Amino acid sequence: MHEVLELAQRVFRERYGTSPAVYGVAPGRVEVLGNHTDYNGGFVMSAAIDRVTVVAVEPSRSAQCRVFATQKDAEAIFTLDNIQPTPHDRWADYVKGVVVELQKAGVPVEPFDAVVTGNVPIGAGVSSSASLEVATAMALLELHHASLPQWEVARLCRRAENEFVGMPCGILDQFSSVFGEQDSILFLDTRTEQHEAMPLPRGSFGLILIHSMAQHTLVSGDYATRHRECMEATAWFRDRLGPHVQLLRDVSWEEFQRLEAEIPEPLRRRARHVISENQRVLTGRDALHRGDVTQLGEMMYASHESSRVNYENSTPELDLLVHLAREHGALGARLTGAGWGGATINLVREEEMEDFARRVAEEYTRQTGIQPGVYRCHIAPGARSIREQGG
Ligand code: GLA
Repeated sequence: MHEVLELAQRVFRERYGTSPAVYGVAPGRVEVLGNHTDYNGGFVMSAAIDRVTVVAVEPSRSAQCRVFATQKDAEAIFTLDNIQPTPHDRWADYVKGVVVELQKAGVPVEPFDAVVTGNVPIGAGVSSSASLEVATAMALLELHHASLPQWEVARLCRRAENEFVGMPCGILDQFSSVFGEQDSILFLDTRTEQHEAMPLPRGSFGLILIHSMAQHTLVSGDYATRHRECMEATAWFRDRLGPHVQLLRDVSWEEFQRLEAEIPEPLRRRARHVISENQRVLTGRDALHRGDVTQLGEMMYASHESSRVNYENSTPELDLLVHLAREHGALGARLTGAGWGGATINLVREEEMEDFARRVAEEYTRQTGIQPGVYRCHIAPGARSIREQGG
């Protein structure tokens, strides 16, 4: 963490000749249960991890904003009165989208310079994009001596992604990055926004992220397709069950089973996934409350199976990783995040973690020729901002 802040400061000095006054720091997240339930008004379980994006900012001396991203080695330059998306520099759109939303929320954003850096793996399904949005919001709020309630920060960052970036994501990633709590798994009801932090039984279990290093399709296109299919399935159920069906959350498992034979494919499988996944999240939450980590793990395996068969957002590599996880004794494993590539999240007994990670990685490489990325996830607190003394 300190290294990331130091890097941000050093790069800032080199590029812009001053020290940044303020830093926004926001973690990536892992999705523990609740795959594609969030934009359906459903339930999720997640955790913020000890990988962060840092946005260092300082007022600009000109009318322009300059944003340099170390991981992309690229700079975006824009003025605040005409913020446009940059098709070939998508990372910058997350920053710009947040600026637009802060302006709409009444924050009088002044021109600024920024350096973006961090250690959230990109494309691994741990939401480097939401951590960039949230870190930008935290930094700019602090820079302008403004503050917003945590929920407003999360919602505003989601709107930036929905409206400016054009990705119809739910609130899971932004929520997790804002509300993360050390050593706790978060539960969220995305409909009511009721949430809680549940401590993972101490010292006994841990989470390992294994990045398959294989991306199959353009995730944003597939994501939008699934989003559309879910809305079509919702409309189908609304016609039959009544206007209270606003999202798939409003269809019970019993109602689904009663009508299942009539709903056309692929809507049947999409709805089956979302509605059953909501049940798995509730079962997983109750299991964790009881300290029943075995049942939580079973829900994770079942979640992956439903993503694979019903939501069709897995890949052969992710399936192989989950299969190997089971063979090597993980309590649970599943794809995490949007899918169509990226990573699995594995729930493993503390004393087995090292062996597990090594053996699964070796076997994966043997079968695919691909070296996976393995990260031990320490569950970390959510976003914050830091102001330099005198800054
Ligand atoms: C991505 C989105 C989230 C959520 C997950 C799937 O991470 O950004 O809102 O939909 O996929 O659960």
